[in-house]
Amino acid sequence: MVEVDKSAPRVAILGTGAIGSAVVHRLLRGGYDVTVWNRTESRATELVAAGALPARSVREAVSSSTLIFLTLKDYAAVEQCLTQLDRDLSGQTIVGMYTGTPGEAWSAAQRVTRLEAQYLDAGIQASPEMIGTDAATILYSGSRHAFEQHRTTLELLSRPRFVGEAPEAAAVWDLALFGLWYDAQLGLLRALDAARDAGIDVLDFSHTASTQLGHVVAGLSATVSEMERATCPPGPADLTEHLTVVRHLIDLRVGRRLGDGGLPEVAARIEALIADGRGGEGLTATVG
Ligand SMILES: NC(=O)c1ccc[n+]([C@@H]2O[C@H](COP(=O)([O-])OP(=O)(O)OC[C@H]3O[C@@H](n4cnc5c(N)ncnc54)[C@H](OP(=O)(O)O)[C@@H]3O)[C@@H](O)[C@H]2O)c1
Repeated sequence: MVEVDKSAPRVAILGTGAIGSAVVHRLLRGGYDVTVWNRTESRATELVAAGALPARSVREAVSSSTLIFLTLKDYAAVEQCLTQLDRDLSGQTIVGMYTGTPGEAWSAAQRVTRLEAQYLDAGIQASPEMIGTDAATILYSGSRHAFEQHRTTLELLSRPRFVGEAPEAAAVWDLALFGLWYDAQLGLLRALDAARDAGIDVLDFSHTASTQLGHVVAGLSATVSEMERATCPPGPADLTEHLTVVRHLIDLRVGRRLGDGGLPEVAARIEALIADGRGGEGLTATVG
């Protein structure tokens, strides 16, 4: 059943790909008037049939709305849409909802500010089917006023988190979190690849790999506390012992498809700390 909210702002979604379509469906279910524009018009047809209002141009979509989401592929697409706007958009909020760099977020904020609108940059920690569920987290940065003004609407899409007034803050969070996933997943793939090549049963190996990955999660609060207090106790091994293992891993990974994962740089960093008399400290010292 549609939950009708008479005080809801008019919303425009520019870019009706996978994420944009999921956002449109959730807002329509919330009783919002939603205007849609997509570069390839035919890809918005289904949304119009579901109740969205079609706009013939970027300008038309923006002029009809107070809250505008740019759910586009990348910053190049965002820039192309923003360059089509030249009028005073005071009182309106533009949300850049795409995966981009901190520099791109900053540039988007500058462009939007020149149009007199408020800007929010959004980092999407969710897949399209998660939009509108508690499993989705969307990170926002930029105008705190815009975030508070539109909080009710943003809460329909995910658990919204405001992570800072610097427009690039959400992009830093977003990329750092993606980086965490890539490092862990690629680390797992490197380990499984090496085990399989040595004739080891990867299913059997995976049970112990799971325990090993769990150690990272279990040690998270201790690691954060070490960073905050700038103390780096050795834990299960000190830097001298870590260096031996890291060098063995570099040997194991020579010539492999996924490369060495940057371990030579890590070894060089540990060597420098040992030379500095810090060999008895733990791994957190590498970022201390
Ligand atoms: N899908 C996910 O699971 C997921 C998860 C996290 C973050 N993200 C990020 O969210 C953003 C959107 O992802 P998506 O999955 O919705 O992508 P998508 O399905 O490929 O949709 C991309 C949208 O951008 C439009 N577009 C591309 N280039 C354009 C241009 N130059 N001018 C105007 N419009 C342009 C496309 O229009 P056309 O239809 O005309 O091509 C389409 O509407 C991306 O930055 C992605 O990295 C996605």
